Amino acid sequence: MRRLSTIPRDPVPDATRDYFRDGAEFISRRAERLGSDIFETRLWLQPVICLRGPEALALFYGGTGLRRLGPGPRRLLRLPDHGGRISQTEGPAHQARKALFIRLLMAPGRTAALAELFRSEWAAALPGWERQERLILGDALTPLLARVGWRWCGLEPDEAGESQLSALARASGRGRQAPLLRYRLVRRLCRHLYAARTGRFRPQPDSPLAQMLAADQGGPLRQSADDLVDIICAVTAVSDYIIAAALTLVREPVWCALFRAGNAGLIEDFVEEVRRITPLAPVVAARSVTPLPFSGHVIPSHRTVLLDLRSPLLDAGCFPEPTRFRPERMLSWRQAEPGFVPQGGGEVALTHRCPGEAATVALMAEAVAGLCHDLHWTVPPQDLRPCAGPGPAVPRSRLILSGIRRAGGRDGTLPEPGGSGCTQPPAETAARRAEPLATE
Ligand code: HEM
Repeated sequence: MRRLSTIPRDPVPDATRDYFRDGAEFISRRAERLGSDIFETRLWLQPVICLRGPEALALFYGGTGLRRLGPGPRRLLRLPDHGGRISQTEGPAHQARKALFIRLLMAPGRTAALAELFRSEWAAALPGWERQERLILGDALTPLLARVGWRWCGLEPDEAGESQLSALARASGRGRQAPLLRYRLVRRLCRHLYAARTGRFRPQPDSPLAQMLAADQGGPLRQSADDLVDIICAVTAVSDYIIAAALTLVREPVWCALFRAGNAGLIEDFVEEVRRITPLAPVVAARSVTPLPFSGHVIPSHRTVLLDLRSPLLDAGCFPEPTRFRPERMLSWRQAEPGFVPQGGGEVALTHRCPGEAATVALMAEAVAGLCHDLHWTVPPQDLRPCAGPGPAVPRSRLILSGIRRAGGRDGTLPEPGGSGCTQPPAETAARRAEPLATE
């Protein structure tokens, strides 16, 4: 085995500026240039090892010797504060908590309840949206999803808590510091949990709140409160995927027409392909706790290690013509292909793979149905370039919609003349689409 010094080294003394400039492409561009799936660079003057390829995926989602990076370093790297406390645990403690998360988040009844809540909040929001000349979809979705997540978790309605949550979600989704906000929110949730534990409030027995209380068996409430905050923040993060889906409806108008013509069964294929092609979690970060063999090299312990989650999704071996949007690939989180890792890889019960994939797909499908059936809308000229940096590649404008009018709905009634759903953007916007959301 070779020494660390043989790990190919990025020639620039510090690559922080490039890390922000190249965003989701940072690791793959350098790996190409250096001709290696492993290389060492410096970010904020600290040594960092970057990995990509199947061996790297197997190391992150099957191996041992790595611990996910804590919230502080993740914020420094501008990676979304996603995954929460559970992602900081490993081994049997992780698997026990993960089993609870899987029960809470992945049971078919739970995802159906989430979609139902989203549908009713969406319907309630439509009259207000219609009154606005321009709606920033991302900004409108964050509080909506915070309310959906809050209620889905089984918490008592609490408007102040829900708006604190959307403020936290806005900050942490962008990798910003919001510890005071989080501290206050966790305290608030502890009060909600205490009310449920002492019988002052009765949550639904299958709700995450009730199940967490049962699992914690009278222990401290802090961990459950923390976990609930993480779950609801993660629900709000789905807004980025919904923005990407809305933009795809504009770029590929045939799909909107198909859904309106009654092909609702294709919506899931459409949103899964949006997840494949949209880099919302292009990088995950960990710290090596022991020396780790990798492709004939040794990653020393106590190093920050970054994994490129983006390139497997664009691997021509797994996905022929990978830059083309093709829902007919019929991808699914249920039976994930080896490279289909938009929210992490491996076996969900055993690794750090996101347990929120079913919920994400259910929310996206509901939003796409709503965008096609419930509304007329168009996309005015705006800055559609992806946000700088390695975080979610959403457009800088957070997707402005205009000309919003309510349409016929999803219950079989015919759309109004002119058709519901998206309208092709004007030429100016089309020109800006040359800087696409998804890498091409
Ligand atoms: C309903 C929505 C969601 C929920 C409840 C949720 C929940 C979680 C949780 C609890 C974890 C930690 C799992 C563990 O450490 O074992 C996690 C990990 C993760 N989630 Fe989500 N998530 C949701 C949506 C999303 C979205 C929209 C994305 C965007 C891409 C995403 C990407 C990820 C990634 C990349 C990881 C980390 C994988 C790793 O560390 O290797 N999740 N999620």
